Amino acid sequence: MPKITYIEHSGKSHTLEVANGLTVMEGAVQNNIPGIDADCGGSCACATCHVYVDEKWFKKLANKESAEEDMLDMAFEPKKFSRLSCQLTVSDALDGLVVKMPSKQG
Ligand code: FES
Repeated sequence: MPKITYIEHSGKSHTLEVANGLTVMEGAVQNNIPGIDADCGGSCACATCHVYVDEKWFKKLANKESAEEDMLDMAFEPKKFSRLSCQLTVSDALDGLVVKMPSKQG
């Protein structure tokens, strides 16, 4: 299974195996990782699953849909490498992915 590393705003890091087909958000929620609340359950409507993707991984992700772009505009401190983790589907290609949580989440 692909390994995903979630880094809390405090710097605390969690590396987990997440099954292919789950989203990066679901991997965090199922493992009680603090900082990804996912209030809307993954329907791209809350931005509480906002993460900063490590730059080298950002290019490997599928492009954002417009709904994700719109939601990110309302997220707390969006940055160049921001994504909504509920829109990122885990696959072998993402083995080693590193995401960081913004300061408001955690
Ligand atoms: S879980 Fe709500 S936008 Fe991702």
